[in-house]
Amino acid sequence: MTNLTGKHIVLGITGGIAAYKAAELTRLLRNAGASVRVAMTHAATAFVSPLTFQALSANPVHTELLDTGEESAMGHISLARWADLVLIAPATADFIAKLRAGLGDDLLSTLCLATRAPIAVAPAMNQAMWDNPATQENVRCLRDRGMRILGPEEGGQACGEVGMGRLLEPQQICDELGSFFDNGVLAGLSVLISAGPTREAIDPVRYISNRSSGKMGYALAEAATQAGAKVSLVTGPTALNAPRVHDLSRVESAADMYRSIMDKVSSANIYIGAAAVADYCPAAPEKQKIKKNESEMVLTLKKTQDILSAVSASEKRPFTVGFAAETDQLEDHARQKLAAKSLDIVAANWVGREQGGFENDDNALFVCWNGGHAYLPLAPKKTIAEQLIRLIAERYHAQNPAKNPR
Ligand code: C5P
Repeated sequence: MTNLTGKHIVLGITGGIAAYKAAELTRLLRNAGASVRVAMTHAATAFVSPLTFQALSANPVHTELLDTGEESAMGHISLARWADLVLIAPATADFIAKLRAGLGDDLLSTLCLATRAPIAVAPAMNQAMWDNPATQENVRCLRDRGMRILGPEEGGQACGEVGMGRLLEPQQICDELGSFFDNGVLAGLSVLISAGPTREAIDPVRYISNRSSGKMGYALAEAATQAGAKVSLVTGPTALNAPRVHDLSRVESAADMYRSIMDKVSSANIYIGAAAVADYCPAAPEKQKIKKNESEMVLTLKKTQDILSAVSASEKRPFTVGFAAETDQLEDHARQKLAAKSLDIVAANWVGREQGGFENDDNALFVCWNGGHAYLPLAPKKTIAEQLIRLIAERYHAQNPAKNPR
């Protein structure tokens, strides 16, 4: 058994000389227990015959977007759904640009657009093409969107030059893919996460909001996905790229967020309330834009519903994690929140100090639960998120030993 046993891998091959290495890669993936379906661009078929891949993958090779023949039984949407992972190897500079732009003018690019599976990209090209700022920017963008970039490596190239741009060796690609399917600490669990600020309308053009950037919630969503969970993220407005999640809902107000979360909560094993939900909203938002005729105006606010408390009091209550942002007496307030909202874990951070928090790339947390606590010292939010997910998994499995597969 390997991490790839039983996994469905769509191997996308694009038109470069390194396409011949994809034959060995197909063989290695199958030896590792994966089912492989190969999709080739037309340019790739000029380098290696689809017949080679048909024989090695033991499946028909897909080349046409609009196929009326036999392959139509598995068109781009079916292939996109079938995949547990889409691997593009080799990926040309042209195909990388296409991925970045979101074009869908052939089978492979369209299935990349349509799939919800993770995408791994193994670039291979001439060193000058790799160094070109356009390629570098495109690769950075794909990485930011959550795609895994494998290689390239340095060495001799088919064109006679030496430099960066060689396809990673097939065995190396195969080994790296295994880590995609690591049975993480949250494998098999559904995790619902709220993130970002909410916006409470005053009138059609004005709103009340807060300084939350959403970075912590998004980092938690990414870390939970990495840990094997099926993640649903409900997010207020942020400027961030979407993290890798199973399902993403965008909302505006606290009331929208409440509805979206309560809709999903019964199927969640774990809820993490990382959103900075507005505590108050205008009692009666105006339908028309308010005119600035008065020298003073009074805005009446009413309390929003506390989503976290509602989740914690819900019938099929998930393991419930809340956040606390405090300017003073952090630990006392965190412990009070744990009790007041009947939570399983509270993660508390300082606001308005050096230790990170709102809008910052770094954060530090005091985490408490009934019978224990931990300090997570100042670190990038990605690191803090991974540590917090590990803590949550530990506490969850301690409470639910029957659901613990380990
Ligand atoms: O009580 P306080 O607002 O300090 O608690 C913060 C925690 O409560 C966060 O986890 C936040 O997501 C959650 N919360 C909520 N609904 C609200 C206010 C806060 O879920 N209306």
